Amino acid sequence: MYTQAMDTMGKDEMRQPAVRSADELQLEARFNERIDAGEFIEAKDWMPEHYRKTLVRQISQHAHSEIVGMLPEGNWISRAPTLKRKAILLAKVQDEGGHGLYLYAAAETLGTSRDQMFDALHTGRAKYSSIFNYPTLSWADMGTIGWLVDGAAIMNQVPICRCSYAPYARAMIRICREESFHQRQGFEALLTMMTKGTPAQKAMVQDAVNRWWWPSIMMFGPPDDQSPNSAQSMRWGIKKFSNDELRQKFVDAAVDQAKVLGVTLPDPELKWNEARQSNDFGAIDWAEFWAVIAGDGPCNKERLAARVKAWDDGAWVREAATAHARKHAMKEAA
Ligand code: 3HC
Repeated sequence: MYTQAMDTMGKDEMRQPAVRSADELQLEARFNERIDAGEFIEAKDWMPEHYRKTLVRQISQHAHSEIVGMLPEGNWISRAPTLKRKAILLAKVQDEGGHGLYLYAAAETLGTSRDQMFDALHTGRAKYSSIFNYPTLSWADMGTIGWLVDGAAIMNQVPICRCSYAPYARAMIRICREESFHQRQGFEALLTMMTKGTPAQKAMVQDAVNRWWWPSIMMFGPPDDQSPNSAQSMRWGIKKFSNDELRQKFVDAAVDQAKVLGVTLPDPELKWNEARQSNDFGAIDWAEFWAVIAGDGPCNKERLAARVKAWDDGAWVREAATAHARKHAMKEAA
């Protein structure tokens, strides 16, 4: 989902494969047969160049989302209301860092380097999830992010555990187990505030839900008819469901959970549709979504600056680790 920073071709070329040799066509036919049979593709297997680039784009965007996603919550670790909540939040933020590492490692199997991926992020060429460009204004935002943002992430990511590229699928199995804990801790934190909290705490929860609902349902990406990558990604088994299908599943699950919590979802048009056996919902502000992913969200500049600072501040650690590895290699050689 980031820019085509690591692409050697332009976007149009990526979408229209160049003329191929007979050998290549045969390899591609065999590759498609394997995809159709539901086989997993491993790093050393032959794959079309566009498949590889699509995976690098999606996996590295996903990795960037995990590490940028540490920032809005990291901001609250020192202000958690109890030791228990602080320990949970600390563990959750650490988990996100770990998810980033698994995903960078999965992207590296496709021949891109971590330095290239970080460079694309730090120079603003890379995309990461729109959701992390919104501010976290109160403690209730921590619970709401767990419930809605991690809930949306799980809805999107569980199917990726069966995606056609094996290293990505394997990373996602572990990530989804942890994301499920993240979602539940968020729901439990909100339930505690809604059942045992003061009227002011309950109002704080409702305010957080009001602010996070629409950005959460934007996380699934543009509507299917405006999603340039979906058709090919679904053909290759990278995506198992379309953006709109996943968004609908999430809305349906959230409506029931909101009832348990006792909060109102901020959409007057949200209504059960008996014929569709699903909830109808109001129009999403896609202009806001496109502005956020273009860099004009409320916190884009702050998030990027924080990542660049972390990278610069860590230079001495990288230098020390490299020097240590060099020394170790020299000792081994001797
Ligand atoms: N934020 C930013 N950019 C987005 C976006 C979002 N929520 N949704 C879509 N886009 C971008 C796409 O990257 C694409 O841009 P590009 O062509 O320049 O790369 C463009 O909008 C069009 O969208 P498409 O639907 O065609 O793109 P995809 O087919 O890649 O679908 C996706 C988008 C559903 C997000 C898919 O990439 C995906 O499933 N990614 C893996 C999951 C992921 O990255 N999740 C990140 C969020 S949450 C998280 O990781 C942290 C957790 O702890 C909460």
